[in-house]
Amino acid sequence: MTKKHDKLVDLVTPSRPTGPIAHRVKGMKDIQPGAYPAWEFLLQSAGRLARLRGFERIDTPVLESYSLYERSSGRTSDIVTKEMYSFLDKSGERLALRPEATPGIVRAYIEHGWFNLPQPVKTLWYGPLFRRDKPQLGRYRQHYQLNFDIFGEPGPLAEVELIFLIHELLNDWGIEAQIDINSLGCVDCRPNYINELVKYYKEKKHREQLCPDCRKRLIKNPLRLLDCKEPACEALAQGAPQLIDFLCEPCKQHLVKVLEFLDNLGIQYNLNSQLVRGLDYYNRTVFEVVMPSESAQRPLALGGGGRYDQLIESLGGRPTPACGFALGMERLLLYLDPHKVEVSQTRPDVFLAQLGDGPRLKSLQLFEELRQAGLTVHQAFTKNSLKSQLALANQLKVKYALIIGQKELLDGTILLRDMESGSQEVLDLKRVKSIMLKRLAKTK
Ligand code: HAM
Repeated sequence: MTKKHDKLVDLVTPSRPTGPIAHRVKGMKDIQPGAYPAWEFLLQSAGRLARLRGFERIDTPVLESYSLYERSSGRTSDIVTKEMYSFLDKSGERLALRPEATPGIVRAYIEHGWFNLPQPVKTLWYGPLFRRDKPQLGRYRQHYQLNFDIFGEPGPLAEVELIFLIHELLNDWGIEAQIDINSLGCVDCRPNYINELVKYYKEKKHREQLCPDCRKRLIKNPLRLLDCKEPACEALAQGAPQLIDFLCEPCKQHLVKVLEFLDNLGIQYNLNSQLVRGLDYYNRTVFEVVMPSESAQRPLALGGGGRYDQLIESLGGRPTPACGFALGMERLLLYLDPHKVEVSQTRPDVFLAQLGDGPRLKSLQLFEELRQAGLTVHQAFTKNSLKSQLALANQLKVKYALIIGQKELLDGTILLRDMESGSQEVLDLKRVKSIMLKRLAKTK
């Protein structure tokens, strides 16, 4: 039998929710403590190199209208047909979480009249994208990209500048990847090639080997047959006619110029006739940054892009040539040289350690004083033991620790500890700022 006061306890004890632990949505990733320095390193280095080359940072909304992607990424592309997160807004408009950045950037270019700005307009965009893809290592349902785009430059130098930037970035990050290049031709020469390609795949012995998806592609988007990941389709693609043999003279000349410039700059590339990209808007040069894999698996793409001279016009803008590329942050992080991140980390100048309430208060004031003098100061005001505070200082590779206890507080002094040699000396608290500024100027 329940006693009366047990019931009372039941009434006053807040009910605890029970059930399975909350978990993240499939394909989503958390960035946990300790992981951010690598992200920051990539972003800072990309921002610095892009700024030097005249790229300006822009941003676009996470939500766009669904039709924007249908009209740009492609009605038959995997992104639109299989991977978009979309929903009906209360207004009845179908909206989508952006699966890629290019359509939103182009919409902004048209909507805000960026063609009135001095051309070429060069933009750097960074943000999260959403694709309901099959999750695996390096493939998530939310991923982050760095996008670099150039608007208003029709000549091959635009692609060369982008590929050169990729080359510089990879060097900065210590990533040894391969740059694949192909040309997709233009509205004049591509149809002839597509006819030949369809003829090849329609041959009975070839068609029988196609996967179900590729049978649909043969009708809806034959170029994508070259990009299928199924082993039988991959083998068939090897023997297919090559687009490069069907390029019209202007497209051929454009490609030759791009390759000549890259040769002159000493940038290595791999001509890959099967590179078609998964998005509908590209013409002429397309490229991908790939990490050749040691196993039989397909190489992982760290980034990709190309020219999209008709996209702005097809979305209602005035005809404007454009090209760009995007790098996938999560994939770059898989290959980033950790040493580069470590070297990029600024070591704090001083660690402030304290023992007891009075010293803690004093060190809070001193922390602000030293910080305002331009020093990078670290502390662990919530820790009580000196041992654990110094362990943290060691971990942070700080050169000096300043230690203040009850005795020092009473004497108006502070202990300066050289963290490398372990030697200690007593300093006058009033002079600590000027002494530290002098010492650090010497050691920097
Ligand atoms: P994309 O090839 O679809 O191109 O994506 C660019 C890069 O984003 C890929 O090479 C890959 O590194 C990364 N990425 C794509 N999907 C995922 C995923 N599910 N998980 C992790 N990383 C992923 C575009 O999006 C074009 N809009 C690029 C562009 C910019 N073209 C012209 N300007």
